[in-house]
Amino acid sequence: MPNLNNKIKNLLPRKVLFLYYLHSAKKAVLPDLKRRIYDKVYNNSETEKVQRDLTLLYHIVEKGLTMPVPRPGFGKKVVLDLCKVINRYEKMNLPVDDLEFKQSVSVLREYVEFHHEINFKLDDELNEKLKDIVSRFENIEGLKQKNVTKEEYFKEINEPFDVFCRSRYSVRNYTEEEIPQSVLSECIELAQKSPSFCNRQPTRVHVVKSPELKQGILELQNGNRGFGHLAETLLVITSVISTTKDIHERNENHLNGGMFIMTLLNALHFKKIGACSLNWSVSSDKDMKLRSLLNIPENEVVLMIISCGYLPEKLSLASSPRKSAKEITTEH
Ligand SMILES: Cc1cc2nc3c(=O)[nH]c(=O)nc-3n(C[C@H](O)[C@H](O)[C@H](O)COP(=O)(O)O)c2cc1C
Repeated sequence: MPNLNNKIKNLLPRKVLFLYYLHSAKKAVLPDLKRRIYDKVYNNSETEKVQRDLTLLYHIVEKGLTMPVPRPGFGKKVVLDLCKVINRYEKMNLPVDDLEFKQSVSVLREYVEFHHEINFKLDDELNEKLKDIVSRFENIEGLKQKNVTKEEYFKEINEPFDVFCRSRYSVRNYTEEEIPQSVLSECIELAQKSPSFCNRQPTRVHVVKSPELKQGILELQNGNRGFGHLAETLLVITSVISTTKDIHERNENHLNGGMFIMTLLNALHFKKIGACSLNWSVSSDKDMKLRSLLNIPENEVVLMIISCGYLPEKLSLASSPRKSAKEITTEH
């Protein structure tokens, strides 16, 4: 039967074949697209949305506090938005001991303390809102950002897996010291041990060291301000779509890539290299620009970028607390 199918395919004009595949692709993709659009339009689950907004906003402040050189008065708009969402959360009578809420309040307290320590006067409107929240929730404790030495950060890399796993953080501060290609290759080799669908190994790594190319790439990406320019290496992770056989396998590139990337992040950590994932959730014109910068083949999709470098003697890490296993598990 597969032979017959192939014979028929070969007889059809390419254009007909293209339209046939386009039709079946639409059919396959539409339910998922509809589910996503439905969620945006009809899902009234305000709880999930307010938790999402708290996390998005407190994480930006966490990042700001842990930048190599935090900018006095940084993130005014984000902080005001976070105050607003905290007030909305409170009005909804949601639990104040939820991770998202606790961390939001705690991060705002750190924001106030940071500016107090450097003697920077925040503007009155902001100050008033912050004071109100910090004083009303003075008993709420979240996870503070971490200030560590390079030695402290890497001291657990040879410990058993559970300890090692908990010791990795996204690192957003690097020195200029060159990461040898041989070390990067060892990390990529380890990442290759990640499982892949039928062992098809679709993931590819583009190693970027050229200052012009790095700058061009980082200008297209929206989450590296304040630290991306310090990265000695950028790893652009892509996946070959020709490894998938039909449209039902379309998610395999991102899924397999995610598994690969996690091993790679752990491998970099093991080799004492600091790394930070950088999202590639961009418009198609930005995607095309990146493709053309690196000459990425048409049959590869870009998944993510990783900024990397060796570490300075001292650095700050965003604490990024996690929900418990219990909170995210459903037992059936
Ligand atoms: C797909 C993906 C995209 C990310 N994009 C960014 C980004 O653009 N900028 C950034 O600073 N961090 C980014 N991160 C890092 C996350 O903020 C970080 O992994 C999260 O807060 C958990 O912290 P941890 O890595 O220190 O454990 C990204 C992470 C993932 C997995």
